[in-house]
Amino acid sequence: MNTNYDSWADIYDEVYSFVDYDINFYLQKASSIKGNILEIGCGTGRITIPLMENGANITGIDSSQKMIDMLGTKVANNKVPIKIIKQDVRDLELAQKFSLVIFPYRGFQSLLTVEDQVNALNSLRNHLEPGGKLIITLFVPGKDLFDQRSDIFYHLRDSRYQEDNGYRSLHHRTEFDHHNQLIHTQISITEHIGDYLISKRYADFTLRYLYTDEARYLFEYCGFRIEEIAGDYDGTPYDRDSEETIWSLVVR
Ligand SMILES: C[S@@+](CC[C@H](N)C(=O)[O-])C[C@H]1O[C@@H](n2cnc3c(N)ncnc32)[C@H](O)[C@@H]1O
Repeated sequence: MNTNYDSWADIYDEVYSFVDYDINFYLQKASSIKGNILEIGCGTGRITIPLMENGANITGIDSSQKMIDMLGTKVANNKVPIKIIKQDVRDLELAQKFSLVIFPYRGFQSLLTVEDQVNALNSLRNHLEPGGKLIITLFVPGKDLFDQRSDIFYHLRDSRYQEDNGYRSLHHRTEFDHHNQLIHTQISITEHIGDYLISKRYADFTLRYLYTDEARYLFEYCGFRIEEIAGDYDGTPYDRDSEETIWSLVVR
């Protein structure tokens, strides 16, 4: 089981370059509060950098040194210093409290046991100011996800990386451990020039899926009041057709 993104850092942006539908949502949330913002699992800065550029006072936390290094390189020439700290969300130790904590894009689902989830939520509650808000997003485990065959690599996308006919091809394959609600995904990355295969490598990661009612009880058990469950980043309320849940939680 891999939840360490070090082996991923150099290709993360390429694999997830298509994900931008949540950025405006976080920009709006950040501009609606005055205080400090903490981002958990900031990774290579997909959300961190737009928030920082928009003037947010943001601290980024990640447990992967290599993801943090990638983000550090991107913001190296920035005039406004940004705080990026290597820490594990299950055991946060920061001298500061925050008005808003965000845990974007599957980050919470890297916590693979209920014990890890409870430790993380307790740790986050202790780093929020009274009345502070926590935003967590989860994908809804739906039929399409489980319909995948685990012996097939599905095509994700191709991207050109040279002026000539060089390209990189991404495929993914997924195995399910339904007893523990775990999804093991393997990404294959092949590099081609014309008809020739130049290199092939794999990166893998594991996520835990949560059902919506399970998440509701977990968040309440850990001392949060559920302010809103949206089913999309435009604020559409969660319903049976939603593919995501976007949770706004307030410290009780
Ligand atoms: C799916 S990536 C999301 C990165 C970025 N927020 C984005 O939206 O593109 C999840 C990130 O969470 C980090 N992460 C996983 N487990 C963590 C933990 N226990 N504590 C802190 N960060 C963690 C990973 O290293 C990774 O950078």
